[in-house]
Amino acid sequence: MEVKYRGPHGEERLYLPREAFPSSARDAHRKREQVGRLLELLCTWVRPGDVIVDAGCGRGALTAAMALSCPSCEVLGFDVREFKSWPVLEEYLESVGVSNLRFETWDLHEVVSGRVGISVKRADVVVGLHLCGTLTDRMLELARELGARVALVVPCCYGRASPRVIIDELGVRPGVKEESEYEWLKRELKRAEDSVRHQLTVCRIRGKFLEKEGFKVKVGVAFPREVSGRRVFIAGLRAGAG
Ligand SMILES: C[S@@+](CC[C@H](N)C(=O)[O-])C[C@H]1O[C@@H](n2cnc3c(N)ncnc32)[C@H](O)[C@@H]1O
Repeated sequence: MEVKYRGPHGEERLYLPREAFPSSARDAHRKREQVGRLLELLCTWVRPGDVIVDAGCGRGALTAAMALSCPSCEVLGFDVREFKSWPVLEEYLESVGVSNLRFETWDLHEVVSGRVGISVKRADVVVGLHLCGTLTDRMLELARELGARVALVVPCCYGRASPRVIIDELGVRPGVKEESEYEWLKRELKRAEDSVRHQLTVCRIRGKFLEKEGFKVKVGVAFPREVSGRRVFIAGLRAGAG
């Protein structure tokens, strides 16, 4: 994947219609920076011809940026609700000769439980930017179910995540001896709302699910403070993913 999108160091940006971004200039700027940083991370891991799924894609800025940056990839964004920006982005990409992007409306919880199916049965790369609460954990499960080589998520709204989902459903034991793991994890999730140190702790714990599934896991800070308060990413890479 070629990164032409953003310019923290003055690089040229890929143009995307304004509908892809929040209406306030400040939020739009922050979203551009977030998308650019994720493209930088992904560019070393994405391969030509990959199927890429963006879960909880919202307006679709990251989805469309991935499709533009990697025209040989097939890119699917889905969200529980439909966004007016989707047809605008699909049409814009077609107008510049790129027809690898589509959006669908699905509930991630239902996709993971197998009650409904997105239009791809397998994916090479599964991403999620600012997935709130338990959506992060469902997205990690989706990466496993689609047989992904690369999973990349930036969690959001840590306080709304569920220790029960992480401990019981993902089967991740934080390894706390003295007190209930559920209580301890609940407190860590709350603290992670505004502390990058706690975000790193929680992401390392959530990342253990991917380790269990055979991924090599990297956890790190994706964004500077001014770009987002939810700054930490979890990346799962299967052998050979770079
Ligand atoms: C904080 S927004 C992030 C949107 C986008 N990834 C971005 O960074 O601009 C979280 C998104 O998750 C979507 N969402 C919430 N619940 C969902 C669900 N059950 N299944 C799929 N998407 C969901 C919301 O509609 C929203 O677009």
